[in-house]
Amino acid sequence: MTGRETAVPGILAIANQKGGVGKTTTATCLAHGLALTGRRVLVVDVDPQGNATSGMGVEMVPKSPAFAPDGLGAAIIQTPWSGVFAVQAGRDLERLAVRGLPSILILREHLRTLPPDGFHAIIIDCPPSLGPLTQNALAAADRVVVPIQCEYYPLEGLVQLLGAVRQATATNPGLAVAGILFTMYNGSLELSREVEAEVREKLPDPVFDTVIPRDVAVAEAPSHCRSVIDYAPRSLGARGYVELAGEVVKRGIVR
Ligand SMILES: Nc1ncnc2c1ncn2[C@@H]1O[C@H](COP(=O)(O)OP(=O)(O)O)[C@@H](O)[C@H]1O
Ligand SMILES: [Mg+2]
Repeated sequence: MTGRETAVPGILAIANQKGGVGKTTTATCLAHGLALTGRRVLVVDVDPQGNATSGMGVEMVPKSPAFAPDGLGAAIIQTPWSGVFAVQAGRDLERLAVRGLPSILILREHLRTLPPDGFHAIIIDCPPSLGPLTQNALAAADRVVVPIQCEYYPLEGLVQLLGAVRQATATNPGLAVAGILFTMYNGSLELSREVEAEVREKLPDPVFDTVIPRDVAVAEAPSHCRSVIDYAPRSLGARGYVELAGEVVKRGIVR
């Protein structure tokens, strides 16, 4: 930890209702990349699958603190990754997702009770749906990062997601798209290049300059409970996520 002062943290939701697009990888690796710059980062796992939780080497808990009536405070734990803290996924998330939550403002209220100088960034890993868990994340966040996998045409799904973001601004007027992030990019594949061109051309939303390449080291790292930045620091995947952390800071999304 450097002597850097924390300000009000940037709260980022990593969202896309499609599974397997790189949300969890982006949530954890961006958190680690930011932590390596001396920032304190909290990862809030609201996906019933709990992949961010297990990928960072911590266990799921019976009840998700993100939606527990008594709030987050004591539930925040330090992960084995220096500078990265976690609100673990609960085994009750699946049930909450199906039965619905009494409000979409629960997570937002919980995050507001945290001391303002505790974290530089709070990163919420969303499930692959636009249900109540993601709605809670969108109501709590300042910015949405939208990872898209460059191996299928994403436009239809993206339009739906961006609609959900717009809808969330009714309760959370400050919410905006931080950027669309191309993940699993393979520059030698015509499809990857076409998808990139289509998104850049047809959508008005910001797109990150950083592109995350497809890299087997990225996929291997979670089974070792490490981020790719630590597992294979010289890999293209690691460099991608370090660059993304730099871009997020450069753009003022996280201070
Ligand atoms: N850049 C990448 N290169 C190769 N594999 C990746 C990359 N990003 C993610 N993966 C792998 O793809 C799968 C889906 O990624 P994940 O982050 O879990 O997506 P989501 O959270 O959107 O479901 C995981 O097995 C992950 O390890
Ligand atoms: Mg995931």
